[in-house]
Amino acid sequence: MRVLITGGAGYIGSHLVDALIKRGNEVLVIDNLSTGKIENLRHLLGHPSFHFINDSILNEPLLERFVPSMDLIFHLAAAVGVRNVLQDPLAAINTNVRGTEVVLGLAFKYWKRLVLASTSEIYGKASHVPFREDDDRVLGSTAVARWSYSMSKAVDEHFAFAYAAKGLPVSIVRYFNSYGPRLDERGYGSVVANFIRQALRGDSITVHGDGKQTRCFTYIEDAVAGTLLAGEVKEALGEAFNIGSTRESSILDLAKAIKRLTRSKSPIEFVAYEAYYGEGFEDTRRRVPSVDKAKRLLGFTAKVDLEAGLKKTIAWCREHFAH
Ligand SMILES: NC(=O)c1ccc[n+]([C@@H]2O[C@H](COP(=O)([O-])OP(=O)(O)OC[C@H]3O[C@@H](n4cnc5c(N)ncnc54)[C@H](O)[C@@H]3O)[C@@H](O)[C@H]2O)c1
Repeated sequence: MRVLITGGAGYIGSHLVDALIKRGNEVLVIDNLSTGKIENLRHLLGHPSFHFINDSILNEPLLERFVPSMDLIFHLAAAVGVRNVLQDPLAAINTNVRGTEVVLGLAFKYWKRLVLASTSEIYGKASHVPFREDDDRVLGSTAVARWSYSMSKAVDEHFAFAYAAKGLPVSIVRYFNSYGPRLDERGYGSVVANFIRQALRGDSITVHGDGKQTRCFTYIEDAVAGTLLAGEVKEALGEAFNIGSTRESSILDLAKAIKRLTRSKSPIEFVAYEAYYGEGFEDTRRRVPSVDKAKRLLGFTAKVDLEAGLKKTIAWCREHFAH
């Protein structure tokens, strides 16, 4: 198969590229390296089945040259991470809404199967866990920039469902806090990357708020496995799936686990959200996926346990993070 991966130089995208190349596919990545890195793909440069174009998904004429010859598209390119979005909300909305409009529009024009990367942020600050795919979304005011990421991905999902209603073979995966090798050291979207960097450097491990907020950390192999299934299983068409681990872990427990596994002497320090994100920041207390649907229709369950995943991630970070 010929597969296009937008955002393929990013953290999740580059692992997806590896998995698809390993299965014998031909892969084209289009990525503008805004948060992605060529280091994530360097081992594949020159591989006969791998092609890379450093450009934006907003460049529609470029995409239109390649989409017609593809068998499958994974659309991962996006402005990612709450902090990134807060820094430049306009660019984030443009990339996530306009960019997805371009990619989905071309998939529709040339009738290509597509998997759209979405997010657990979709559920906003809903307090009822676990989140089921058809649950209500609970968001704050539009004056709070944080919610623009959730909104932009929701618009993407509405586009995808609208095309699916016209028969386009499209599926949606909602990732829950993925972590693993190639996490960006700058930690744009990842508390795991931030904590590991701080622990390895001996800096304070900074926990926002009281640290009792929870997340379900999902190892990259599991995130990739769910994504691949969404691109191949017939039952996935026209559907959205939570792709995540169901093991709930508080941020404070994560900090303690990383401190222990890195054998770090870093103190754990509590920092007010406002000090990091500015005034008026709103967070989600608990974020837990229901994976019943993914299990039933895709045959997906996360397999990698948090401690094992953290060990592999830390080993990679020791080699690749500056400290
Ligand atoms: N990592 C997670 O836990 C997580 C959680 C929820 C959703 N997601 C979604 O998964 C996808 C991949 O995220 P990631 O964590 O790998 O982040 P990432 O930042 O590593 O990957 C995003 C990639 O998109 C590229 N990109 C951004 N704007 C672009 C543009 N205009 N044109 C071309 N490329 C562009 C970036 O350079 C980067 O390589 C995103 O759609 C994100 O919203 C990730």
